[in-house]
Amino acid sequence: MYTQLEQRGMSEPPVNVSTLRAMKEKGEPIACLTAYDASYAVLVDSAGTDLVLVGDSLGMVIQGHDTTVPVTVDDVVYHSRTVARGLRRAFLVADMPFMSYASPDQALENAVRLMQEGGAMMIKLEGGAGQIDIVEHLAAHDIPVCAHLGLKPQSVHKIGGFKVQGRDSKKAKEMLGVAKRLQNAGADIVLLECVPNEVGKAITKALAVPVIGIGAGPDVDGQILVLYDILDITQGRTPKFVRNFQADHNSPLDALRAYVKAVRDRSYPSPEHCFS
Ligand code: KIV
Repeated sequence: MYTQLEQRGMSEPPVNVSTLRAMKEKGEPIACLTAYDASYAVLVDSAGTDLVLVGDSLGMVIQGHDTTVPVTVDDVVYHSRTVARGLRRAFLVADMPFMSYASPDQALENAVRLMQEGGAMMIKLEGGAGQIDIVEHLAAHDIPVCAHLGLKPQSVHKIGGFKVQGRDSKKAKEMLGVAKRLQNAGADIVLLECVPNEVGKAITKALAVPVIGIGAGPDVDGQILVLYDILDITQGRTPKFVRNFQADHNSPLDALRAYVKAVRDRSYPSPEHCFS
């Protein structure tokens, strides 16, 4: 308990936006995970994860809510600060919670909190065509932005459940158009959740910035999963794209190393984790 932070050396330089961009250019898969506290952050970092997200999924896996809607900026700041203390190499991204970016000025104020108080290096927001001006405003103030497209869990009550997005070609084309506009507005990463493989592939090919997928198929630049899902902590039904990495391993660290390896050698996701 007292030694874990000091014991970790800095054998590799910390990941930054340029590292992630270079990985895309070289075709090296980017391994990403969520984390919510310092102890798991140490493990996730030690396993070689490139990017760690303090997701508003914390509302579900930490706080026990049914959705991410109740999560506040204070909640994310708190968890992000704890995760930041556990990371040495991985790039830290923090989620902007529901209604914390309803206007450009509100978004800027809350993004600054996540970076200054939470130690985040980038913020993530669930963005569509309606968020282009917000991404532009943040980028104009040098706030690194990850735009989240596809299934946007904060909109669960509007869309009527957690459903695969972009299944028909009109919706898929719209998503591709919005992804390009978000990139042009200054987004540094696009995260795609729950879309068919073909949509993940088309958006990844069309963008210069890295595309990270969760249930977006194998042809994206990187994969992300919710930590508690892959460590078999989440009880009940997990989404189709989840693989339980704890099942074949004795310790959480071994399971996390297996996840990073599977992302790097592209053995995850396999067809049973994909939507086509
Ligand atoms: O909040 C979260 O954990 C996320 C993941 C689903 C990527 O946004």
